[in-house]
Amino acid sequence: MIIFLEANWGQFFGRFHALVVHLPIGFIILAVIFECLAWKKKIDLKLAISYALLIGALFGVIAVVLGLMLASDGGYNIDTLNLHKWTGISTTIVAFLLFFLSKKKETILWAKKTYPVMMALVVILLSIAGHYGGNLTHGSNYLFEHAPASIRAMAGIKPVRERITILDSALVYEDVIHVIFEKKCNVCHNNDKAKGGLLLVDSESILKGGENGKVVIAGNASKSELYRRITLDPNHKEFMPTEGRTPLTNEETLLIKWWINEGLAFDKKIVELNLTDRIKGYLQEVGIGLKRTFIGSLNLPEVDENILDSIKAEGFKIKPIVNKSTLLEVKYSAYNKTPLNQDKMDILLSAKENIIWADFSRLPMHENFISTIGQLENLTELRVNNSEITDKGVKQLTQLTHLEYLNVYGNPISDVSVESLQKLSKLKKLYLWKTNISEEGILKIKDSLPQINIITGE
Ligand code: HEC
Repeated sequence: MIIFLEANWGQFFGRFHALVVHLPIGFIILAVIFECLAWKKKIDLKLAISYALLIGALFGVIAVVLGLMLASDGGYNIDTLNLHKWTGISTTIVAFLLFFLSKKKETILWAKKTYPVMMALVVILLSIAGHYGGNLTHGSNYLFEHAPASIRAMAGIKPVRERITILDSALVYEDVIHVIFEKKCNVCHNNDKAKGGLLLVDSESILKGGENGKVVIAGNASKSELYRRITLDPNHKEFMPTEGRTPLTNEETLLIKWWINEGLAFDKKIVELNLTDRIKGYLQEVGIGLKRTFIGSLNLPEVDENILDSIKAEGFKIKPIVNKSTLLEVKYSAYNKTPLNQDKMDILLSAKENIIWADFSRLPMHENFISTIGQLENLTELRVNNSEITDKGVKQLTQLTHLEYLNVYGNPISDVSVESLQKLSKLKKLYLWKTNISEEGILKIKDSLPQINIITGE
C-alpha cells in the first residue's frame, strides 16, 4: 500500500509519453505516404493504409493517456499545454475517422469526398501537436534557436543579443549568469515549463522565485535556496539540475555564488563588481576574457643542438612537444641501463627554461634530484609516480608555480605534503593514488584549489 502511495505513478507513466508518442506519428505519416504512392503509382495499398491508420489511432490513445498523466505533474505553461493536448486528442480522433472512411470510401460518396480533407487535416493537427509538444519539452523558440538572424526575424523571434566576451565590457547577468542558466537550467525552468513554479529567464522571474518562495537572497548565497540546490550531493533528490542533466561545473557554481554575494546585479558590468584574480580565472573558464595559456605566453629561443645532444648522451629522451616547437619534454626511462645520477640531472639545467614536461616515473628520486627538478622553472607537467618521493621531496617542488599536472602516485607521502601541494596554485590534475594522504587532506587541497581534479583511484 505504502509503495502505491509513495510512487508518483503519474510521473512514472508520464515519462513514457515522450517515447510512445512517436508511434502514432510514425504510423499516421506512413498512411499518408502510402496514400500518395497509391495515387501516384496507381497501386492498391488500401489494406496497408487502413491498418496503418488503425494502429496509429490506437497508439494515439495510449499516447494521450500517458500525456495526461505527465501533464498532471504540473509545471507546464497552461496555454501551450492546452494547445498540445487538444491537437493531440483531435489527431487521434481524426485518425479513427480516417480508418472508418478508408473502409467506406469505395461505396459511399460522402466518405470518398471527406477522406482527402480529413487526410490534410490530420497532417495539420499532427504538425501543430508535435510543434507544441516540442515547445513543452525544449522551450518555445527551440525550433529557431540556432537559426540565422534573418530567419529568426521572419519567425517573429527577437534577435539574439550577441554575447560580449571582453572582460571590460561584459555584463555580469546577461553575459555570464544568464548564459549558465540557459545552458544548464532552462530546459525545465522556462516560459513553457516552469518546474517547481520557477522560471530562470530574467530578473523578474529570478527574483520572484518558485512555489516555495524566493530562491536567491541578495548578498547571501549560503541562505539562497538556488545555491543550496546546486551544491547538494548530486545524488540528493533535490539536487539541481535533476534527471541526470549535465551539472554545473565548479567554476559555474562559484560564479553564481559570487554573483549572489555581490548583491544580484542584473545591469552591472563585471568590472563594477568586486573582481579577484580567482574570479577572473573562473570567468575565463566560461569564455569571458582572453584565456592566454602559460605555455602560449612563453616566447623562448631555440635550444642549441649541441646542448640537446649532450643531454641525449646522458641517456635522456628529449624532444619538442610538437614539431618545431622550442618547448621540450624530457624523460629518463626506468629501463635505462645506467642509473640516474646527480651529474646527469645537472645537465638538464642547460635547457631548464625550455623543459615544460618531465617524466621520471618509476625511478628512485633522490632528494637532490628533486631539487634539480624544482629548478625547471617552466615545468607544467611532471610525472614522478612510484619514485620513492617523501614529504621533503614534495616540498622541493613548491617553486614550480606553473605546474598544471602532477603525478605523485605510489609514493610514501603523507598529509605533511598537503601544505606544499596547496601552493601549486595552477594545478588542474593531481594523482594521489596509493599515497598516505588522508581524505581530510584531499578535502583541504580541494578547498584551496577549487579547479583541481584529484585522482585517488576510488
Ligand atoms: C530536468 C529538469 C530540471 C533542470 C534541468 C533543472 N531543474 Fe530545478 N527543478 C526541477 C523540478 C522538477 C523542480 C521541482 C521539484 C523540486 O523542488 O525539487 C525544480 C525546482 C527547483 C528549485 C526550487 C523551486 C522552489 O521554489 O521550490 C530551484 C531553486 C531550482 N529548481 C533551481 C534550478 C537550477 C539553478 C537549475 C540549473 C542548474 C535547475 N534547477 C535545473 C527540474 C529541473
